[in-house]
This record gives sequence, structure tokens and C-alpha cells, in this order.
Amino acid sequence: MPIKQITDKSEVDERASALISNASAIQAVAAAVEGTLGPKGLDTMLVDRFGEVVVTNAGFTILDHMEVNHPAARMLIHIAKAQHEQIGDGTTTATLMAGTMVKEGLEHILKGVPVTRVVEGIRRGEELALTFLRQRSRQLTGIEDPLIYSVALTAGRGQGDIARHIAVAVGIIGRERLLSPTFRLRDCLLPEKGIQSEILPGVVIGRRRLNKQMPGAQRNALVLGLEDALEPERVEEEALSTEAGFQRSLELRRDFEDVLKKIIGLGVRTIFVERGVSEIAEDLLTGAQVTVIRRISPRELRQAMRHTGGRALKRTALRRSKEEIAPFLGFAQEIWEDEKLGHVRILGGRGEPMATFLLSGATEAVLAERERIAKDAASSVQAALQGGVLPGGGSIELAAARNLLKHRDELNGMASYGLDCVIEALRRPMVQMLTNAGFNPLEKVAQVLSAQSTQESDSLALCCDTGEIADMAERGVWDPALVKVHALQAEVGRQ
Ligand SMILES: Nc1ncnc2c1ncn2[C@@H]1O[C@H](COP(=O)(O)OP(=O)(O)O)[C@@H](O)[C@H]1O
Ligand SMILES: [Mg+2]
Repeated sequence: MPIKQITDKSEVDERASALISNASAIQAVAAAVEGTLGPKGLDTMLVDRFGEVVVTNAGFTILDHMEVNHPAARMLIHIAKAQHEQIGDGTTTATLMAGTMVKEGLEHILKGVPVTRVVEGIRRGEELALTFLRQRSRQLTGIEDPLIYSVALTAGRGQGDIARHIAVAVGIIGRERLLSPTFRLRDCLLPEKGIQSEILPGVVIGRRRLNKQMPGAQRNALVLGLEDALEPERVEEEALSTEAGFQRSLELRRDFEDVLKKIIGLGVRTIFVERGVSEIAEDLLTGAQVTVIRRISPRELRQAMRHTGGRALKRTALRRSKEEIAPFLGFAQEIWEDEKLGHVRILGGRGEPMATFLLSGATEAVLAERERIAKDAASSVQAALQGGVLPGGGSIELAAARNLLKHRDELNGMASYGLDCVIEALRRPMVQMLTNAGFNPLEKVAQVLSAQSTQESDSLALCCDTGEIADMAERGVWDPALVKVHALQAEVGRQ
């Protein structure tokens, strides 16, 4: 029936135009970040509508600043954000691979390949690629493994000082904590303008001591942490006007003085307080040469106590006996205020080992970009310890693409077109890196492909400086395996 035919056609058109619109939105997102990929990626200057400027080489920063309304584009950004949250690096790679897969898939669908076949082929291709990557990943031998430095340098855009410092921090923190899912190495960063970069074996509290008469430095110090105010309990305002109420407030004040004397008697040298400190406490503690740092954030207090091996107490717990309080005290070899930077350092705690990466930068903009780089490097190192490493430069992805080609004939009919989408996506990182380095990607990728198969090596890629074939493993260009695995899994999950 003619009427039905028209409806069908318009339905098809509608579906096709929805697909095209989705695909172009996704490509627009990919196009915004592709220029930053790899060692020759260019810096991008972002200017928002208020004139705020960010100069960056990190794909994620661009995505994070983009104002996007299209649902498909938003989904792609969501994938990148998930990758950033969970792994911390590889967002540009993940975005480009997802974008390529969608673009290729759409082309096949528009040529008449059924959607289900394309999806089937993509799924199969992703499974095969994941198995391939997992089999080839190399586990690190431990925190001394030189691959840690290599991974940090690759993710850290060749900034040797950042990579060296991260390797030192890894040594201090230790394997066990680095493998813990709740610990994030990138949280150890503390950017400061106009300093020398260094790794401190401990934690930093962004506060000064209560007054200058208190010692600015304490050695071998017992530490008390208080998630409360350090002040006497109060009598209700109305009760104060009665004789009984007044007597009660004097009593509470005497009790509080006893508490302070008990703390001093315990040998506590430093007190971290989450809230305020009363005058009596300040006077008594200054006299006893105890250093007090007040109004520290709950997070900082938690870190300080974990590092010093103590536990923060509530004010009421201070009524207990000395013997009962003692086990809650922490200990640190050194606690001192850096007067210039206005923070307090707690070093050599007897609790969990911790490290703080004081990161330098000449200007705000330089510091912000160095912080992003150091975060990428820290996340990559942690991911490498968790899931091993794979050679970078797009080499292993290309090798995975070669491997998929071998399986193409195993697929039923049109599903092989779906597999082709995965192959293109796997070629994309190298293609883009070579484009960004100014080479003709078609010619160069063909050269690398033939070198990989004649030399039976999965780690060959192109040196972006000379344009020669180079072995990424030998050059120390290594990426965490999880970055690549996660990028592909994001695709699988999306179908
Ligand atoms: N010196 C290098 N030579 C070749 N490839 C490199 C080099 N340094 C980094 N890469 C590659 O650059 C890619 C990462 O680029 P990057 O711009 O950081 O994007 P992403 O956001 O995906 O991490 C990885 O594939 C990595 O192997
Ligand atoms: Mg990176």
C-alpha cells in the first residue's frame, strides 16, 4: 500500500537522521580533543564566556570545560569522565576510540548493514581485543621496578622531575597502600608557586599554629587530635544568672583546666583541633610550650591521625584517665610550621606511611598545567601497579588490530563489518599521534604494520621526532594496561 510505504520511508529517514545527528555530535567532541593526543599534541587555549583562559594539553580538561547539550555527545563525555575518575588518564584515547567506532558503525549502517550485525561484530571485536591486551600486559615486579619511572614519564609528557618525584613517593607509600582501592596517589599533590619541588615523607596541614609564642617545631612529638572544640563545656545562658549556674560554670572551668593539665602531663607536644580553642586553653598550652593548630579540616585531621598512628577524640573522651587516652595519641618525628608557605608539616609518623608531593610552578597557569600532568602521571603509575603495563605510542593497539584481522573470517557474514569498526578504533590512537606530529598517517601506519609483522613485534611504532620505526618498549614508552582495557570496556558496556 502506497501510504504504508511512505510511512516506512519517513521512519527510515528519521532513524537515519537521528543516527547522523548522534554521530556528528560525537565526532564534534572527538575533534575538540584529537589535536592534543600524544607527545606532539598541541596545547589548546580555552576561553569561556567570562573571558577566563585555560591553556592545556589534557584532553580531559577540554571535555570538562565543554558545554554540551546533545545527548550523544554528553554520553561520550560521560565515558571520558568515567575513565578519568576510575583510571585518571587515557581520556583522550578513550574518547577518540569511542568516536571512531561510532563513526564507522554509522557508515556501515547507512550502507545497509543491519544494526544488530554491526553491534554483534563490535562486541566480538572488543572481546578479542581485550583478551589480546590482557595476555600481553606485563606486571610490575614491585615498587622498585624501573617501569614505574617509565610510566610516569610517558603519562607525564616527558617531564623528568615530575616522574622522578613520583617514583620517590611510590617508594615511601609502599605497594600495599598503592593497591588499595580507596587510596589515590594523585591526592598527594600540593601545588605551590615559587618553591622547589620535593617529596615530603608525611602530610601537610594548610594552617598556621595558634600563636607565635608556641614552638614552631616539635621533634619526636606525641600528637592529640580533637574532632571538636578545645574549650570548657558551657552552662546555658539563662542559668549563668543564678548562683547555682555560676558555681557550675566555675566547676566546669576547673574541670577543663584539669583536662588540659592531664594532656600536658601525658607529654602531648602538638594538638590538632577541628574547631576553636578557648583562651584558657591557649594560655595554659602556650605556657607549657605545646603547639596547637586549630580549625583544621576533618579530612586533614583524619590524615594527620592516620599518619601519626593515633585516633581523633571527642571532647568528652578527654575526661577519661591518662591510661585510657594514651593509646589514642599519635607520634611523629617532626612537626613544624613552614612560616613562608603558612602550613604545618607532619613528618615521619609512626602510623601509615604517607607522602606529599610539593609541586612547583613559576606562574598560576604553569602550575595548573603541571598539576594536571603530575595527576596523570600519579594515576598512571598507580594503575600500572594494579594492572601491569603495555607498550605505548599506539603500538599495542595497532598490534591488536592486526590480530583482529586474523579473526575476521570467523565471523558470520555481515558481523565482520562490526569487527572492522573495532579495527579502525584500535588504529586511531597511532593515526592521530602521527597526524599531530605532522606525518602522513596512511603511509606511516602502513610502514609500522609491515614492520610489526615482519619483525613479529607488538611494540613497534613511529618515533614522533624522527619519523623512524622505533621500539616503544626499548624506549621506555609504557602505558598502564588498565587505561587501554578500560577504554574498550567502556564501549562494551555502552552497547
Ligand atoms: N615519547 C612518546 N613516544 C610515543 N608515544 C608516546 C610518548 N609519550 C606518550 N605517548 C603516547 O601518547 C598517548 C597518550 O597521550 P595523551 O595526550 O596523554 O592522551 P590521553 O588523554 O589518552 O592520556 C599514549 O598512547 C602514549 O603511549
Ligand atoms: Mg595522558
